[in-house]
Amino acid sequence: MNSESGCMMKTLIFNGSPRNNGGTATLIRELEKSLAGDVNVISSYKANISPCIDCRYCWTNDKCSIDDEMQKVYRLINEADNIIIASPIYFGEITGSFLGLMSRLQFYYVARKFRNTEMLSVKKRNGALILVDGGDVYADNAMSMGKSLLRKMKSEFIGSVYFSGTENVPENHTAVPEHILAEIKELSINLSKIPAAETDHERQARIYPIILSEYNPAWPQWFAEEKANLEQLIGNENIARISHFGSTSVPELTAKPTVDILLEIAETIDIEDLIASLPNEEYIYLRKEGNSLSEHDRVIFLKGYLSDGFADVWIGYT
Ligand SMILES: Cc1cc2nc3c(=O)[nH]c(=O)nc-3n(C[C@H](O)[C@H](O)[C@H](O)COP(=O)(O)O)c2cc1C
Repeated sequence: MNSESGCMMKTLIFNGSPRNNGGTATLIRELEKSLAGDVNVISSYKANISPCIDCRYCWTNDKCSIDDEMQKVYRLINEADNIIIASPIYFGEITGSFLGLMSRLQFYYVARKFRNTEMLSVKKRNGALILVDGGDVYADNAMSMGKSLLRKMKSEFIGSVYFSGTENVPENHTAVPEHILAEIKELSINLSKIPAAETDHERQARIYPIILSEYNPAWPQWFAEEKANLEQLIGNENIARISHFGSTSVPELTAKPTVDILLEIAETIDIEDLIASLPNEEYIYLRKEGNSLSEHDRVIFLKGYLSDGFADVWIGYT
């Protein structure tokens, strides 16, 4: 159980080694021993997962055209609280077999780029790397590739264990040096103690942090520009009144830098037509059924959220 969320922690480990008793497999077993919750291990050499063939089916479909075990892995990635990449180093890089499996992560990029869709749920995922080599003591490329792959799975890198020197231990070894075992232990503690599941409240605080700003004399100007923009998009004949309200409308007041705009319209205006006249690329449209002030749905458009502030447009009826 994850102590903070009360949920069962889910860990997904990718194993990029072909050897059942090699360094990578041994370290994965050690990590598994001390990890709480559900653990799934996917081996790039054993799983029935083909590399991406750039067929571009996912450019227009929300599924990968290759019907293999990766379909299950997409689900496991989505659900995971922890994602661990564990691989030997071959020629200074994670193994080719493992890169082949990871090429299927292109699916996420394509969804964002060509279908404007996010295929991975927004949740906090911890990411970690375990790298093993014969003794070169050179892991820079594998390390940066591993971190990049973790980012593709929307997981946040929290630590790594690098065991360099398997050529110095007997072939049938499980003899991993004590200090490496200690590092694995520490990693498992860090993976378990960091709150894996984020509550809605925590998420809201992260993506909509409350920032207070000194009064900015540009705020009335932002309002004037946005007012002109709305008049042009909606048409003056459809607008009863547009006003700047909230704390940014009060001169000299320290405020949350949101330029709140109230757009008042007549009851006769077709709200669906109005919504359609505000382009998606410019406005994020939110709607809540009914509200305490009237029978109407509450309609809000978010204009943007930048470090220097943003604007919201609220629709009301006259
Ligand atoms: C094709 C190949 C390339 C390798 N390249 C490197 C390398 O660049 N640097 C290094 O230190 N070891 C290299 N090794 C050694 C492996 O990293 C080493 O055998 C390691 O123990 C493999 O991990 P495993 O025991 O988890 O399978 C290579 C081994 C193979 C088979």
